[in-house]
Amino acid sequence: MSQQDRLVIFDTTMRDGEQSPGASMTKEEKVRIGKALEKMRVDVIEAGFAAASQGDFDAIAAVAATVRESTICSLARAVDRDLEHAAAALKQAERARIHTFIATSPIHMQYKLRMEPDQVIEQAVYAVKKARGFVEDVEFSCEDAGRSEDDFLCRIIEAAIDAGASTINIPDTVGYAIPEEFGYKIKRLLERIPNADKAIFSVHCHNDLGLAVANSLAAVANGARQVECTINGLGERAGNAALEEIVMATRTRQDLFNISTSIDTTHIVPTSRLVSSITGFPVQPNKAIVGANAFAHESGIHQDGVLKHRETYEIMKAEDVGWGANKMVMGKHSGRAAFRSRLEELGVTFPTDAALNEAFTRFKELADKKHEIFDEDLQALVSEAISDAAPEAWKLVALECHSAIGETPVAEVVVSHHGEEKRSKANGSGPVDAALKAIEEVAHTGANLLLYSVNAITQGTDSQGEVTVRLEKGGRIVNGSGADTDIVVASAKAYIHAVNLLLSESDRQHPQNDGV
Ligand code: KIV
Ligand code: ZN
Repeated sequence: MSQQDRLVIFDTTMRDGEQSPGASMTKEEKVRIGKALEKMRVDVIEAGFAAASQGDFDAIAAVAATVRESTICSLARAVDRDLEHAAAALKQAERARIHTFIATSPIHMQYKLRMEPDQVIEQAVYAVKKARGFVEDVEFSCEDAGRSEDDFLCRIIEAAIDAGASTINIPDTVGYAIPEEFGYKIKRLLERIPNADKAIFSVHCHNDLGLAVANSLAAVANGARQVECTINGLGERAGNAALEEIVMATRTRQDLFNISTSIDTTHIVPTSRLVSSITGFPVQPNKAIVGANAFAHESGIHQDGVLKHRETYEIMKAEDVGWGANKMVMGKHSGRAAFRSRLEELGVTFPTDAALNEAFTRFKELADKKHEIFDEDLQALVSEAISDAAPEAWKLVALECHSAIGETPVAEVVVSHHGEEKRSKANGSGPVDAALKAIEEVAHTGANLLLYSVNAITQGTDSQGEVTVRLEKGGRIVNGSGADTDIVVASAKAYIHAVNLLLSESDRQHPQNDGV
């Protein structure tokens, strides 16, 4: 198969995905996601924006030091500091890419950059050359290309390729494009740019009009050979094109696209769950490919058809995308070695023996309550053990609640603040409401609760409930998550987690703030 027949999958869950309010990830979490993406055989992993913060720099460096099979990439604005940070963070990568960008639409150049078009070209060429001084593999993006003029795009792209960029990315930054128009734009650029054959053309579509996947596919049909996408469609505002949808659409409709990806699709559902549990962004049940209902046939006619001949109503096999992989993996009698080894297979290593012991104790407690422990249970348990191992201001010590029909629910909590125990009691409209009010009474965050959601991690009434609590204070948004077979306890853990995140320092820069 020729180079033109391969579609490069560029995952930006840990960079654009992390720009979703509240979706920030720790270094350990990024390493876990990086390993899962590597297992899925993602070609390029954009692990972050190195100049955003020390935390992001360290996370990219850790992913670069761990993941060996995929190319690791850092975003960088077209300025010295960003390029130097990106290069330094990628030092240990087996294969490194610097992704530099500058805005090219009239509105961005005039109001955001306050630069003349010729200056923008000069800056882009400077940045690509400087990036090439650090690494071989340089990607250049024309931010807001969806609203940029073709003539200008042709000039700047030709210059960027001459300067050494081997991937040219055409983002629809504000999710404004319509598939036919966007596909045609890619075709025109490929035809008009004289050195277009020296680079792979890529697209990066946002989902503001719900068209990110459709626009990306239209671009592929017209010659784009890299798609930038995210697990579960996570990303800035309405998100990015969903990786699972791009991969399965091109695979299911090979008759139309005639391209292949390197993705091992059986890792799609486990990776979707991992990202959802780390970010606290639940997957809607009717989400294509990875939603709980994606392969569920409710109507009698459909069920009858599927039983007689699967293809009557199913265009993909659930097992091909990793459904059904959630086999019972462990139980009450499993030992520490088996526990550690299963987690290693899931890409989890513990920073210290104490963290492993702590997670193993929790596993035993869970196994006493729930006989069958699935991979999803282990993932949730580990997320908690790793985040609790970090020194955190607030911890949940005890919780008791009472609710009965006709009585006002009441909850009493004991929490510790830097080791000092505090007790509080509150009423609520239900036990969860009472427990969260009791915690807030002592924590005094004054934060606004933006979202509360509960998800059953596995099937059955003994499933752990995974709770997400989204809090906002002073414009800062955080997602706390917690899991337990008791959803009141899971809710209290999620609230405490969110409170700790609110208190943690964040000096993160946004990449699309003017860097020039
Ligand atoms: O949406 C966008 O334009 C981006 C670029 C930085 C690639 O995320
Ligand atoms: Zn983007």
